[in-house]
Order: sequence, then structure tokens, then C-alpha cells
Amino acid sequence: MSEVKINPEGKVVLVSGGNRGIGKAIVVELLERGAKKVYAGARNPETLVVLKEKYGERLVPLKLDVTDSSTVVDAAKTANDVEILINNAGVLKFDSILSKDATQNLAAQLAVNVEGVISLTNAFVEDLKNREVAAIANVSSLAGLANMPVIGTYSVTKAAVHSVTQGYRAELAESNILVSGVYPGAIDTDMTKDMEMGKDTPENVAKAVVDGLIAGQEDIYPDVMSEQLGAGYGTSPKTIEKEFAKYIG
Ligand SMILES: NC(=O)c1ccc[n+]([C@@H]2O[C@H](COP(=O)([O-])OP(=O)(O)OC[C@H]3O[C@@H](n4cnc5c(N)ncnc54)[C@H](OP(=O)(O)O)[C@@H]3O)[C@@H](O)[C@H]2O)c1
Repeated sequence: MSEVKINPEGKVVLVSGGNRGIGKAIVVELLERGAKKVYAGARNPETLVVLKEKYGERLVPLKLDVTDSSTVVDAAKTANDVEILINNAGVLKFDSILSKDATQNLAAQLAVNVEGVISLTNAFVEDLKNREVAAIANVSSLAGLANMPVIGTYSVTKAAVHSVTQGYRAELAESNILVSGVYPGAIDTDMTKDMEMGKDTPENVAKAVVDGLIAGQEDIYPDVMSEQLGAGYGTSPKTIEKEFAKYIG
């Protein structure tokens, strides 16, 4: 638990990949719980029309492709009042690290899942330091704590997000900024539509993220699967490694 806690009520937040899945659920949860303004980052802001109609001026669609430095720079200029940054945008390729496309797949996912987090965070961090209190929350995955072979190269990128999160936390330890990692298990979104397994809802993840920020949680385990395996990770990382080793395509 961090000493820095932040209640999103009355705060200004940016969520990358805010147009669908977990990101959209986080945007809605923030607005329902009284955020002053939420910038919803989207590669195509038109995908936010329905949310915009519902929430009006508190919802600000923001063109943002985390792999495109010009949109990242523009986002930081436009959204210069952000107090909470939620790095949610991500992509997944189903593969094994033994597959012939492994290194290509890895590069494509690293660009979004890891380099995207670093470039967006670095574009906002100086402004965040100037706030009374601020937060950065990075959506990693349980697969970032132990490799899941059916999503082998994706797991590598999410382990990198875990490391990036630790790095920011260390670098910003003396600041006003809470740095949280979010470690979902299987969640029912477009990303997992081809995965046959029990899944929790994006809405439950969103609630846990907001609750986690309020509580100052550094590690947020936001669903049933992650609560079970995340608790075990603290005492026995091998248990989750052995469990995930069963998920071979
Ligand atoms: N679903 C799960 O079981 C699960 C579990 C653990 C972690 N996660 C993580 O949770 C996050 C959200 O995943 P999800 O399940 O909600 O997936 P999703 O439904 O596929 O949504 C992915 C989001 O990321 C956006 N995105 C992709 N590439 C982008 C880019 N270059 N720049 C900006 N935005 C980009 C997508 O925008 P477009 O609409 O433009 O494509 C979309 O908004 C990801 O980081 C994912 O790795 C998901």
C-alpha cells in the first residue's frame, strides 16, 4: 500500500484505449463516481460518440494512438490538466514463443503494450508532478506475472509492463504520484472472445481500479481469477507459473 491515495471524484483523468473493453468500463466507472473530466483516448474518436452523448462535457474524446508520437505529444498539450493517467491500451496476439512469427508478434505488441506506456507516461509525468496528488495506473496482466504459453509473446510484453511499473514507482517514490499496476485475469472483452474459459466483467475490473486508487494500492488484482492467483503470487510465484503452464495452445 502506498502513502499516496487518490479519489478520482472531482479529478481529471485520461484513459488510453477508452473506447471499448476494459478502458471503456473504466471511463464509465470514473464518470459515474464523480470524476470532473475524463479524456477517453481512442485511435478513432468517433467510436466515443455514444458515450459523449450520455456524459456531455465531462467526457472528452481524445485522438490517441500510443504508437504515434505526434498524437501522444498533442494529447499531452490538450490534456494538460490530467491528474490521473490510466495506461490501458493494449493488443494481444495468440501465439507460442516457439512459433515462427514469435519475434514479429513480440515487436508489434511491445510497440503498443510497452513502448506505448512509456511514451505516454513520459509525456505526462512532468505535469503530474505539479499536481497536489496524482496517479499512474498501468494495465498489465496476470500473464505478466507468469508466462501463459498460449499467449506467449503477449505475456512477455505484460511482464515488461510490470517492470516498467516498478521502474516508475522507484523513480517517483519521493513524489506525489501513486504508481499502480493492474493485473487482470481473464476478462470478457473483444480481446478474449476466442478464449474458452471463465471470465469476469470489465465493469468489475473498472470498480477495482477506482477502489484501488482510493486505497492507494500499488498492485491491483481486479477480478476473481486475479484475486485468487495474485494472492498466491506474493508467497509462491511458482504456483502461478505451474498453473499457467497448463495453458498450451
Ligand atoms: N481482456 C482480458 O482478459 C485482459 C486481461 C489482462 C489484461 N488485459 C489488458 O487490458 C487492457 C484492455 O484490454 P481489453 O480486454 O479491453 O481489450 P480490447 O477490448 O481489445 O480493447 C483494447 C483497447 O486498446 C486500444 N488500442 C489498441 N492499440 C492501440 C494503440 N496503438 N493506441 C491506442 N489505443 C490502442 C483499442 O483501440 P481500438 O478500438 O482503436 O482498437 C481498444 O480501445 C489491455 O492492456 C490488455 O492487455 C486484458
